[in-house]
Amino acid sequence: MKKLNVLFVCLGNICRSPLAEALFKHKLNQHGLEHCIEADSCGTSDYHIGEPPDSRTMANARKNGITISHRGRQLSITDLEHFDYILAMDQSNYHHILYLGRHHDITGKVSLIRNYDPIGKGLDVPDPYYGGERGFQEVFEILDRSLEGFIHYLKEKEKITALPKPAR
Ligand code: 4NP
Repeated sequence: MKKLNVLFVCLGNICRSPLAEALFKHKLNQHGLEHCIEADSCGTSDYHIGEPPDSRTMANARKNGITISHRGRQLSITDLEHFDYILAMDQSNYHHILYLGRHHDITGKVSLIRNYDPIGKGLDVPDPYYGGERGFQEVFEILDRSLEGFIHYLKEKEKITALPKPAR
């Protein structure tokens, strides 16, 4: 079966979306679904191309048991064709994606990540860049809930199931 490709998008690709990518991959492993889904992240801007994630994002992720390995990159037209699900962190990213893809049929695959958040459906993931640690932890908790919701949705919609765990 062809793997599903999921892309997380924010502005700089150094705070929210690389965390979303790493946390999603961690959850896919926990759910036994890593064999059927690939994930990546990028930014709508070119501000941080080639850079590692923000040190505050890395520290917060580590505190929550997640390791991030990513280099900043900018969203491209090729991404709009390649990925099956494109999840924006906020309204601004969402509209940027739709504008970039205005000559392509992409509306069905683009959504806000918080459409899958059971508390705060359709809201933005707040940009933590100019704030303190509390903001980074808030982003973590929002993404934690939203990604669980998204995985639950994928299981139903795409009929994907966990691989049986190998016998020891
Ligand atoms: P992100 O956060 O979009 O979650 O990666 C930001 C990172 C950098 C900037 C803004 C937001 N910036 O203006 O450089």
